[in-house]
Amino acid sequence: MNSNIHIFDNTAETARAIAGLIQEKSNEKVKQSLPFNIAVSGGNTPKTLFEILVNEFSEKIPWHIIRLFWVDERCVPPTHAESNFGMTYESLLKHVPISETNIFRIQGEASPEIEVSRYAGLIEKELPVVNGLPQFDLILLGMGDDGHTASIFPDNLQLLNSERIVSTSIHPQSSQKRITLTGPTLNNGENVIFFITGKTKAHVLKQILNKTGDFQKFPASYIHSFSTEAAFYLDKEAASKF
Ligand code: 6PG
Repeated sequence: MNSNIHIFDNTAETARAIAGLIQEKSNEKVKQSLPFNIAVSGGNTPKTLFEILVNEFSEKIPWHIIRLFWVDERCVPPTHAESNFGMTYESLLKHVPISETNIFRIQGEASPEIEVSRYAGLIEKELPVVNGLPQFDLILLGMGDDGHTASIFPDNLQLLNSERIVSTSIHPQSSQKRITLTGPTLNNGENVIFFITGKTKAHVLKQILNKTGDFQKFPASYIHSFSTEAAFYLDKEAASKF
């Protein structure tokens, strides 16, 4: 099996493995006296990871070097129930000692086009440039049932090759406006991790991992990392058809 595919019994075990990876990679940066720049996704799946980081890894993660960014955000205020920042704050940020100066949220309450420029400028300022693009140390991605990742949806594949590092996007069902990192910056991540669980993802994931069926229609098919394949951290349900 592809060495970048890791399958676990359930969501918690999958999250625990990712937490261990974050512990390993961030502590490597401590030895190099460097920050650890991580971009996280929203939705539901990351909540389990954040809760495990709080409850089981709070003494193991070098929070003082963690610099937290977002892969995407819904164009809503941070207090809105659908805010990715709001979810991260409730399940992670209010429980761990990450300095506010190291939290770089996407301002979902702002005018989308203005926020695209602001967030892009911030990323260009705050991250090292590798391969001509800002580079995150780790990018945590999810995948929707339709194969979307970040807020790059199947009807908007051109965002995978955008010249802009950040773009607006629109959810195809809800028409909700989004702000998202685009393909080139996602693919420039030093480590790119998919955290995917549940049987609703299995059919699309099978096509993506096997490069069969409609895999070319799914944005997640086009994501790798700068130096290697993307790593897939899956529970058995999501991997059940693979
Ligand atoms: C978002 C996420 C999105 C998410 C997938 C999977 O803003 O919703 O960034 O890309 O990762 O939709 O969401 P679940 O984890 O809820 O299945």
